[in-house]
Amino acid sequence: MTKYSLLLTLLLAFLENSNSSFISYSVNYADRFHPYQDLMTQILNITSFYNLQATNIQTCVGSVLYCGIRTANQNFLTNFTSGPYEIVSLVGTISQGSQPHIHISLSDKYGNMVGGHLPSLEERQFYNQTDFSCPIYTTAEIILSENVNLVFQRPIDPQTTYDELQISYRNITFAS
Ligand SMILES: *[C@@H]1O[C@H](CO)[C@@H](O)[C@H](O)[C@H]1NC(C)=O
Ligand SMILES: *[C@@H]1O[C@H](CO)[C@@H](O)[C@H](O)[C@H]1NC(C)=O
Ligand SMILES: *[C@@H]1O[C@H](CO)[C@@H](O)[C@H](O)[C@H]1NC(C)=O
Ligand SMILES: *[C@@H]1O[C@H](CO)[C@@H](O)[C@H](O)[C@H]1NC(C)=O
Repeated sequence: MTKYSLLLTLLLAFLENSNSSFISYSVNYADRFHPYQDLMTQILNITSFYNLQATNIQTCVGSVLYCGIRTANQNFLTNFTSGPYEIVSLVGTISQGSQPHIHISLSDKYGNMVGGHLPSLEERQFYNQTDFSCPIYTTAEIILSENVNLVFQRPIDPQTTYDELQISYRNITFAS
């Protein structure tokens, strides 16, 4: 074990026992998506390819042709078709083995904004619609951050009845 990995181990042990936010360090994955690729499918391809356990979207700038979105507090999806749209923001957390939690804002040629919850592939199927995808128009430049010392899980929260984010420290063994 090197001096630094020992220090890191001690720091993590200290943090795990303190009643605070989870303090993480991250490794980034930068990518560029291409025309007609589906935004959600491509994000999940990265997280599953690298088996990422605790990811957040650091940035995403680009454009989409149209987009299926679940707007606030609705139990159906809306197909926004007045595109192409600029992706003005994309925020979210992604874990393995549970639904990604991603919100998107889009602006049209007048500068008008729409936005809401970007449905997972399962949600799209659940609403039984053929094409609630969000295909890239020209590009999407994206950087995902993996919080390498954390694990994100989504058990049901009895208070909200939704599958809310549960953060824990990952058990890491450092190479000597
Ligand atoms: C999924 O991601 C991997 C790693 O970046 C890449 O090699 C592969 O081409 C991607 N698959 C698709 C369908 O985009
Ligand atoms: C879902 O779509 C399939 C294929 O179009 C159709 O056969 C089925 O009846 C639909 N189910 C519901 C609940 O609408
Ligand atoms: C959404 O709009 C696009 C573009 O007009 C269309 O191709 C797609 O079939 C629509 N999806 C649904 C579920 O209506
Ligand atoms: C880490 O190890 C502890 C003790 O073995 C275990 O209780 C905990 O669930 C593990 N954490 C994760 C994220 O697997």
